[in-house]
Amino acid sequence: MDDIYFSRQSGLEETRLVFLKGCGLPERWKGRGSFTVGELGFGTGLNFLGTWQLWRGTRPTPKAWLHFISFEGFPLDREDAARALSAWPEISELSDKLIERWPERALGVQRIVWPEEGVTLTLHTGDISETLPASRFAADAWFLDGFSPAKNPQMWDKSLWPMVQQRCTDGVSLSTFTVAGFVRRGLADAGFDVAKVEGFGRKRERLEVRLNEAPQPAPDVYGLRSPDDRPNRVRIIGAGIAGACLARTFLDRGLEVEMIDAASGPAKHASGNPLALVMPRLDAGDTVQARLLIDAYLRARQFYAGRPGVTETNVLQRPKDEREAARIAKVLADPPLGLENLEAAVSGQLHKQALILEPEKLIAHLLEGAETRFGEKLHLSDLNPEVPTIIAAGQGAQDLLPWLGLTGRLGQVEFADVAVDAPPSAIASGHYALALGQTRLWGATFEAWDGTGPDLSEAARATNMAALEELDPYWRQAAKAAELQSRAGVRATTPDRLPLIGAVPDEAAAREIFDGVKHGQAIEADAPLVGGLFMAGGFGSRGFTWGPWAGEILAGQILEEPAPATEPALEAVSPMRLILRALKRGG
Ligand SMILES: Cc1cc2nc3c(=O)[nH]c(=O)nc-3n(C[C@H](O)[C@H](O)[C@H](O)COP(=O)(O)OP(=O)(O)OC[C@H]3O[C@@H](n4cnc5c(N)ncnc54)[C@H](O)[C@@H]3O)c2cc1C
Ligand SMILES: C[S@@+](CC[C@H](N)C(=O)[O-])C[C@H]1O[C@@H](n2cnc3c(N)ncnc32)[C@H](O)[C@@H]1O
Repeated sequence: MDDIYFSRQSGLEETRLVFLKGCGLPERWKGRGSFTVGELGFGTGLNFLGTWQLWRGTRPTPKAWLHFISFEGFPLDREDAARALSAWPEISELSDKLIERWPERALGVQRIVWPEEGVTLTLHTGDISETLPASRFAADAWFLDGFSPAKNPQMWDKSLWPMVQQRCTDGVSLSTFTVAGFVRRGLADAGFDVAKVEGFGRKRERLEVRLNEAPQPAPDVYGLRSPDDRPNRVRIIGAGIAGACLARTFLDRGLEVEMIDAASGPAKHASGNPLALVMPRLDAGDTVQARLLIDAYLRARQFYAGRPGVTETNVLQRPKDEREAARIAKVLADPPLGLENLEAAVSGQLHKQALILEPEKLIAHLLEGAETRFGEKLHLSDLNPEVPTIIAAGQGAQDLLPWLGLTGRLGQVEFADVAVDAPPSAIASGHYALALGQTRLWGATFEAWDGTGPDLSEAARATNMAALEELDPYWRQAAKAAELQSRAGVRATTPDRLPLIGAVPDEAAAREIFDGVKHGQAIEADAPLVGGLFMAGGFGSRGFTWGPWAGEILAGQILEEPAPATEPALEAVSPMRLILRALKRGG
């Protein structure tokens, strides 16, 4: 598209006058605990940085948060963005922070958080006609910043304005640099009050747009709506990776966190292996599920970066069978992630910037600042509806909420300390082998669980040794010489292999209200919820990838913040989906 992102002479001034002043900032965020800006057209991020700079100087309270949600169809590379932003030395400190964590090239939703500044950025990547309708949030201010309407009509199409209108809070303010007639008419038709005001530079006029009545909410079939009151404390049940990620996320938001676990300390169950792998699962098709797997992976990388017990590594993924080889070939032909993340390897694919985690160290760090109570088992009768409670109990969630139908899958890994120090490395092919310093870890088995233990078995060790032989015969030799140890755990799995993240419905009431679904009826009703009860679980074999994304989703829902995921993704992981699916199948 032959148009400019901003004027070289006056871009930052234009941001300040057209968008910040045009939306009544900073006055409008005075006294607010959080403020949400929506933007059409992220470009170089200059408007975001201008807003962040103003926020820094006028943050209403030390605990207040700014959420900036932007939409971009043609994301710039990090290098191009850095070059463009170097024109503004006065905001170089903030540009550097943004460039350091610049979003990856991937269709989907990426969330970047700067907890020390009270700022989140949520970037929806893809064509606006797809990304805007899939988003879920309400903005206090909107910056309409496509390229000029004559050159970029898609960003000013009248079909967008009713969707913008549905994503507005009471008293919202919108602004834009254009006064094009069709834009004004489209906005007015969607119910906005549109005023021309004095412009900036070459543009003599600009628009300030207001909406006096917030839209009516649609029925909340999947239970995604936020509770009425923002809490200042949450209770989390389970100190595995799910609970630890949740704890850190809520602590960073300034809440008090109470952590309860039946075990004698953190990471005593599935999350307690000496090493764990975080690598992407890339699907050949572009589906909701394929995208949310990437969103969660990128969120995990952002969240873990720089924390104790986190090491970057390449992972060589070798296909475990012909079906996987075909999938990998398709992925490499049209990669869903930028090539800085992915490369064809001699056999399979190489994932760059994946992670090896040391769970014990990492989880202890994530829990710093939480009030922990170990050796205490929660029963549903202990719930206190005043304090939102999040069940992050791994397979233990099944005892608390039997209707979830979680299936436990037993797994075992082998590990050893060897004489030779190795740089971080990982090979995966169904099983995986990890090396970090002197530690080697490999596995894992995946078997039916009989509800006891989990117990170690010689058969599982034999399976893991055979798998290691396939993965890397050299390691097999090194392992033979070392003293081997094993560890077993139970993965909590769901029938559709997606996690359970969201509000917990009242199952009996939901079955009654949505009974018509059995007969093919579309029931437009709110899901009945167990007040104050949420969950994050069913993480299967990827708990370390899901944890950080689950933290942001639940912080978004419980604290009434913009969602860090599309609405179809939130529905796909909501606990309510299990009930709706069972009813659809007549059960
Ligand atoms: C052998 C093996 C290897 C694996 N390797 C990897 C890997 O490399 N990468 C990866 O991403 N994933 C891996 N996984 C999967 C991963 O371990 C899990 O997805 C993840 O640990 C689940 O975390 P969680 O916090 O949900 O559950 P858990 O870690 O099981 O934590 C649940 C906690 O809840 C507590 N609890 C339960 N019920 C109650 C109650 N009623 N009251 C109080 N407390 C309660 C438990 O004591 C426990 O501490 C592996 C799994 C296995 C078994
Ligand atoms: C004027 S620039 C935005 C400038 C930006 N706000 C900044 O601060 O740098 C307009 C942006 O809209 C994006 N865009 C154009 N058409 C789009 C479409 N159909 N869907 C999504 N984004 C689109 C462009 O790629 C471009 O980045």
